[in-house]
Amino acid sequence: MTAVDKRISVAVLGSGAGSNAAALIDRSSANDSSYQIDLVIATRGDAGIVSVASDRRIPVVVLPAEHWEESLLSALQSHQIAVLALAGFLRKLPESVITLLEGNVLNIHPALLPRFGGQGMYGLHVHTAVIEAGESITGATVHRVTQEYDEGAILAQMSVEVRAGDDPRTLQNRVKTIEHRLYPEIMNVYCQHIRDSTSSPPNNPKPQL
Ligand code: GAR
Repeated sequence: MTAVDKRISVAVLGSGAGSNAAALIDRSSANDSSYQIDLVIATRGDAGIVSVASDRRIPVVVLPAEHWEESLLSALQSHQIAVLALAGFLRKLPESVITLLEGNVLNIHPALLPRFGGQGMYGLHVHTAVIEAGESITGATVHRVTQEYDEGAILAQMSVEVRAGDDPRTLQNRVKTIEHRLYPEIMNVYCQHIRDSTSSPPNNPKPQL
């Protein structure tokens, strides 16, 4: 494998059903992938993301309830992870993790940030708030992660319509469908940039969607 072919090592961290982890892993098997998923990290042993990873033979680490920051750092270091992809991770990420990865931490959020973001805005809570606000358009955002909830630079967004008769679950399903396209493509562009350049990845990768 030449330097150009080398794939960037990515870990996915989450606590949910794992559908975005599945999309990221599945995209990484394409010939043109610039990244590979070397580790899945879960905050709960019973989370769907654990079986998603096991089914695809990706190593899994389940963080303990106590001292999880140290366990997370140690898992990232021992697997030599370069980029961390949050997918359904609901806590604040410690600064030590962002520093270790030199800021190469991305998140997917199920709305068009900066709207419907912030503490407590996750999963169905977001879709409930979007419906209650009477929005006709919502979407998904991939952004860089800082220590504040949903505040890092936005890398890409895709929108979907909110339909009459939608409930939070039907809306979540429609948003997840675009998340599964958006996140892997942005990850591919982001890691391509890391691989091909010595500079930091851009804040506006242009995916081919
Ligand atoms: C995704 O919809 C993601 O956008 C959301 O959690 C879901 C995880 O689903 N993240 C947040 O709400 C973060 N604020 P998944 O486990 O099926 O990928």
